[in-house]
Amino acid sequence: MGTAIARTLLRAGLVVTVFNRTKAKAEALTGEGAQVAPTVASALRASPLAVLCVADYPAAHGLVDGSDVQAALHGVRVVHLSTGTPLQARAFALAMDRAGAGYLDGAILVTPSQIGTPGSALLVAGKEEHFRATAPTLRMIGAQLYYVGEDPGSAAALDLAFLSHFFGGLLGFYHGARIMEAENLPVTKLGEMIESVAPALGAIVHADARRIAADQYDNPESSLGNSATVVELIRAHAMERNLDLRFPEFSTNLFRAGLKAGHAKRDVAALMRVLRAVNGGSR
Ligand SMILES: NC(=O)c1ccc[n+]([C@@H]2O[C@H](COP(=O)([O-])OP(=O)(O)OC[C@H]3O[C@@H](n4cnc5c(N)ncnc54)[C@H](OP(=O)(O)O)[C@@H]3O)[C@@H](O)[C@H]2O)c1
Repeated sequence: MGTAIARTLLRAGLVVTVFNRTKAKAEALTGEGAQVAPTVASALRASPLAVLCVADYPAAHGLVDGSDVQAALHGVRVVHLSTGTPLQARAFALAMDRAGAGYLDGAILVTPSQIGTPGSALLVAGKEEHFRATAPTLRMIGAQLYYVGEDPGSAAALDLAFLSHFFGGLLGFYHGARIMEAENLPVTKLGEMIESVAPALGAIVHADARRIAADQYDNPESSLGNSATVVELIRAHAMERNLDLRFPEFSTNLFRAGLKAGHAKRDVAALMRVLRAVNGGSR
């Protein structure tokens, strides 16, 4: 991801200095015009804006630990794009604040090959003045740039919420792919169909979000009771075909809990009340 970001900024005509723990990866960019810094501190001293993207927050802390790096951070705007939890992001923001850096915490919503393309998307959080100052550069990385708010943990929170939807959807898709295989149908057909109905599915999710925000599940378009019947059919099919039962059982367990809690005639999003129960029902 770091290579893709550096390459995109170089192609946009910026002066880019790169550092990577494994030097060969940084050196691979020299042919494209990058300057290679021998240390993190020298990389920070080279530019008023530093983009940091490594495996995780512990790795990022390790990179900025030394006193020379702490000194070099002073007055630099740092945009940190490693994936983490909101707590990790807030702790890193505090460390950057103490070092005198202007900090934005961000999250990347696309793959390296999509960086800088019109569909690329980036979330950022932190002080608005830093967002305003860095937005033109950040849009080169993520054309769709979302400013989430001043709380430095908020981009990581939105990212994890988005990833929950993404990976939850993928798990359902993989079970769907097993249904296709079991019935001798091409999995590509399922992929093609999901892509074509994606806007309509997105609209359903958006409508659900409004119901959840209002905590209002009456007059459903699709009741939890009817949806639970369909989910039981997915489980029944898995039993018929001897498919892995983990995804159907996970789903039926949640839907059965919704029915048990008396939500059959409410919208399927009333499952939120089941999910909130573990926190005493609070939002
Ligand atoms: N790839 C994606 O599709 C994608 C999408 C969205 C977000 N992200 C996020 O972007 C971040 C980077 O992902 P990636 O795909 O680039 O992962 P990656 O290919 O595994 O690269 C990890 C980077 O972190 C460095 N690193 C790891 N541990 C380190 C340590 N202890 N000290 C110093 N450097 C360390 C690695 O350095 P070396 O080269 O020396 O190993 C490498 O530069 C992750 O937080 C990931 O969740 C990735």
